[in-house]
Parts: sequence; C-alpha cells; structure tokens
Amino acid sequence: MSKAHFGLIGLGVMGENLVLNAERNGFSSVVYNRTFSKTQDFLNGRGAGKSISGAEDLQDFVDRLERPRRILMMVKAGSATDAVIEKISPFLEEGDLLIDGGNSEFRDTERRVKELEKKSFGYIGMGVSGGAKGALEGPSMMPGGTKASYEALESLLNKMAAQVEDGPCVTYIGPGGSGHFVKTVHNGIEYGIEQILAESYDLMKRLSGMSCDQIADVFAYWNTTEELSSYLVEITEICLRAKDPTQGGAVVEKIMDKAGQKGTGLWTVVSALELGVSVPTIYASLNARVMSSMKGQREHAQSVLNRPTIVSFPMGSPSDGMSLLMDAVVLSTIASYAQGMELMRAASMEYNYDLDMPSIAKIWKGGCIIRSRLLNRIQDAFNSNPKLPNLLVDSWFVEQVNSRLPGLAKIVSAASENGIPVPCFSSSLDYINSYGTARLPQNLVQAMRDCFGSHTYERLDKEGSFHTDWIKG
Ligand code: 3PG
Repeated sequence: MSKAHFGLIGLGVMGENLVLNAERNGFSSVVYNRTFSKTQDFLNGRGAGKSISGAEDLQDFVDRLERPRRILMMVKAGSATDAVIEKISPFLEEGDLLIDGGNSEFRDTERRVKELEKKSFGYIGMGVSGGAKGALEGPSMMPGGTKASYEALESLLNKMAAQVEDGPCVTYIGPGGSGHFVKTVHNGIEYGIEQILAESYDLMKRLSGMSCDQIADVFAYWNTTEELSSYLVEITEICLRAKDPTQGGAVVEKIMDKAGQKGTGLWTVVSALELGVSVPTIYASLNARVMSSMKGQREHAQSVLNRPTIVSFPMGSPSDGMSLLMDAVVLSTIASYAQGMELMRAASMEYNYDLDMPSIAKIWKGGCIIRSRLLNRIQDAFNSNPKLPNLLVDSWFVEQVNSRLPGLAKIVSAASENGIPVPCFSSSLDYINSYGTARLPQNLVQAMRDCFGSHTYERLDKEGSFHTDWIKG
C-alpha cells in the first residue's frame, strides 16, 4: 500500500476541513483522533470515497506516512498540544515534521521548536485563519519555524492556501514562534475591527433609531467602498439581516450582550505592553469584551447612575453611507491595523523575527478573518517604505486621516454627550491625536517624577540628564 503524503491529528471541524482541503489538492492523507469512533464517523461521512485513511493508534498512524512525515496537529492550545507532542515523539524519526495549526501562545511555540529540534525533528508553529469555511476552501496561513522545515511543506501549503491576485495566502513568516505571534496580532486587529463595527451598529440604533435591516443596508454600502470592503463588514450585514425563526425579528437583538474570548486578544495586548508599543484601539476592544461580561453589575449600575436622555444626532444619511460615522469606522479600522503592524515591527526587532511587512499584508488579503481591500494599501505602504514607522504617515493614509478626523471627533463627541460608550472610536481618536502631536504634556509628568523621586529628566535645549531641587528648604 502506498504511503500517505500528509497526516492530521485532531478531527475537530478545523482539522476535518484542513485534511479535506489537502486531499482535494492531491495530498493523500491519514487521520488520527484520540477517540477512534470519531475517526470512523469521519471516514464514513465527509471523508468517504477520498484518499484519506484512518489510524486507530499512533504507531499505525506514523507507519502509514511517507518520510519525512508531515503531521499537522489541530488540537486545543496549551497542555493538550504538549500532550500530543509527548505521545507522538517516540514514534517519529529524524527529519519528520510536526506542525501546530492551533492558536498557541507564541512563547510555547518558541519552547517547542527548541525542544523538538534537539531531537532532530522539524517543528512549525502555524497560525491558521479563516474559520471552518476558510480551512476547507483556502485559509490564510502563517507558518514559523526553521526555513528548512517550511521548505518541506511549501508545496502543500501553497496549494491549500487561499489565492489572491499576487499569489497564495501563505509565506514563510520567520523563526521560532513568529508564525503564532503574527496570528496573535492578526486576532488582536480582528478584536479591534469587530468592536468598531459593533460600536457603529450601536450608534445607528440609538442615535438614529435605525432598524437592523436599515443598519444592514449601510454595511452593504460600506462593503462596496475601497476603505471598508472586507469580510467582517460582509458578515456583519449577514448577522444583522438574520431573523429569529421562531419569534421573528432580528436574531442579534435576542443575543446576550456578553462577548467571550479565547486568549489571543489578551496576548496581543500583553505583548504590546511588554514591547512598549501603543495599541489603544486593540486594548479598548479587549476591555469592551471584559466590561460586557459584567452584565449583572452593569444592570445594577444603570439603575443608580444618571444616564442622559438620548438626543438624535445627524451622522449622515444611509444613502451617503452615514458619512460622519463612516469617517469614524474608517479611521478606527486604520488605527487597529496601524497598531498591529507597529507591534509586529517592534516584535521583529526584539525577537529577531525579520518579519517582512508587505508579505504579511499580502497573505492577509485572502482567506483570513481580517481580509479587506485596505490591505492592498497597507501592502503598498510597506512596499514603498519597508521601514515605515507607522501607517498613519504613509501618504495615502495621511489623506484619510486629514479628511476624516473631524468626522471621527464629531462622532466621539456626540456619543459622549449621549452617554453611549464608544471605546474603540474614542481610543482611536486619542491615538491619532497623540501620534500627531509633536509636544505632549509629558514634560509635566517628568517634572513630577523628578520632584518626588529625583528620577531626572532630559531637556529640549541641551543634551544630558537633569535634576531640579523643586522643593527648596
Ligand atoms: C479564533 O482564532 O478562534 C478567533 O478568530 C478569535 O477567537 P476569540 O474571539 O474567541 O478569542
């Protein structure tokens, strides 16, 4: 019996769809799942009639694979991934390659790359984005590890990935945990955009009294524009139009307003804090989920805290895409991408990842959750200046900021006056205002630090470190 090209461990939805994707692209496969009944169900169901076989134990699984073995693990991040690595390692031989396609913390991946390479196995930590549909039809993939390990996988990944006009949505990201780091930041940007779109829905509902279908029409319009055309805008329209099959009315209005999270947004913010990178839009989106989970406390607080009576505010008309609101959504989305790109640039220097920013923009243009037309502009910006310090100072983005900042400011002001929280809009406004201000008031902070703690300060007019005897006597 000829050996299979590719092995998969973990038959969750993502695993099933990725192996079907590989098989469709000509890579015969063998699958293994902890519970064999799940493997049998898959082989008798979606996997039937395909070049996919199943193994009941790990010895049989590795025996069915050609050398060097290419094994994708699609298991829960954390200890479950370590447990699978521990179980399969005794069956592997020199040169075999393990790929972790889960949402692992990038430091776990750093550790695993080192441990596995000591045993002469290859290890790739690969971010995969696109949800279940993307996994089946073509995801965006962010593989990190040694270049040699990537090369052993390149032909497989190039075929499995989503395709855009300039190639497949996969590239070698860099060494160690860089692939999972980039996926983490991707998710941080995703959190930001999701919250931005949720804030815009809230304002259309509460400041303009629009129905879900009317709001969906605005999203449909936004999805035709260069600045906002994206997968997340597209699915927001779909979510807003869906009706409750039993009670009628929009389903979204029946959903509990508590947002969960699996960790990547948190890791993005923690990394940004560690690296000293400003990511207020992304942080605001994470905090908004935390605040949303405090439903009981919010209900009590609303009954005791005075809330202003909402006064409708003209944000534009649906036919012009609610122009002021669109300004706010465009600039906040740009801020979310700008912060994510800046975080990756800083991480690249700190961890020697040597990330290629235009390539990352390119592989996010298709397959992944944050795919958007704006990524063409982001790719262009980093192509024309690979050392670009921040997207906000690229010429196309400068024009966006200059023409749309008054709109964003009016939206934040109207929301504040009406007591409607817009954490991502307001953080993005402050981010742009701070980044665009040559002289900030931190001179006074420095004075206070020197006053109580003799922390010293620098001066504008001469070099050196200075201290003032602030409280004489
Ligand atoms: C994922 O990678 O599973 C999602 O894109 C992000 O997950 P979360 O919103 O549940 O953290």
